[in-house]
Amino acid sequence: MPFAQSNTAIRQDHVFDADPPAREFAFSDADFSMLSQFAYDSAGISLASSKRNLVYGRLSRRLRALGIGSFAEYRSRLTTDRSEVQRFINAISTNLTKFFREAHHFQHLEQAIIRPLSALPKNASSKLRIWSAGCSTGEEPYSAAAILCRHIPDAARRDMRILATDIDTEVLAAAARGEYPAASVNDVPPGFRSMFEAPPDRSSAEKVQVADGLRDLIRFRRLNLIEDWPFRGLFDVIFCRNVMIYFDAPTKARLLERFAERIKPGGWLYIGHSESLTRQHPLLELEGKTIYRRRG
Ligand SMILES: C[S@@+](CC[C@H](N)C(=O)[O-])C[C@H]1O[C@@H](n2cnc3c(N)ncnc32)[C@H](O)[C@@H]1O
Repeated sequence: MPFAQSNTAIRQDHVFDADPPAREFAFSDADFSMLSQFAYDSAGISLASSKRNLVYGRLSRRLRALGIGSFAEYRSRLTTDRSEVQRFINAISTNLTKFFREAHHFQHLEQAIIRPLSALPKNASSKLRIWSAGCSTGEEPYSAAAILCRHIPDAARRDMRILATDIDTEVLAAAARGEYPAASVNDVPPGFRSMFEAPPDRSSAEKVQVADGLRDLIRFRRLNLIEDWPFRGLFDVIFCRNVMIYFDAPTKARLLERFAERIKPGGWLYIGHSESLTRQHPLLELEGKTIYRRRG
């Protein structure tokens, strides 16, 4: 129908010609370009121009909190105020997560790693090191800890630990508190739900608190993945899921190189569902959906 088609075209033209929505703060190309370069340099986070509105929205809150009237002023603040750099990173990082997200990794962890360890005699060497790299608010490491605790209740005494790191200090503080909305437990398989309890003071029926047994297994630390890593040991398992999607190809490739060096021969790397390795790494063999094993 030619008439209907031209009508649609007119409406679309209007959409494209429309002025951008009125903004509280002016936000120029130079503002976006400097701030996205700053995100890349400080956190490896690559912000395409499609993220412009998102950046504006997240950083406008910082301008309001600081009582600053323009992005130009905010940019200059970033170059002089170290604490604002951390708040900037907290504001631009995306922290979406949930308990037992991408459940096949947790099934693999249970079947291939933790069950065999639980079958070892108590006096056998059973050291285990798991790293949740980019742990956000902690649901990922607590999910791993729940499996560990269920099969090996004395895991902490048997030298089994989880290191959970993130660049964002706010999510780390939330992770260390271990307090979550009660509804988030719906993501936890029924067999593990008893490890998430109402807070001891019963302050809120809307919240649950992770059991102390889980917290004892985890160390939460701030770590920027693109900077030096202040540890020397090797890991049996590294989770780095839904983090590398924010990095560009060279940053991803460097990070994979470093992960491969940090995994014990025979150890495992789990990555996010949309992050399959574009270039095969000589030390990492694909063993299942987004599950890689370090060659011996
Ligand atoms: C979407 S969350 C993923 C959480 C969890 N791994 C999962 O899959 O559910 C991504 C996390 O990566 C963190 N992150 C981004 N850049 C980082 C960097 N350079 N170093 C460390 N963590 C980073 C963010 O702060 C955020 O908490």
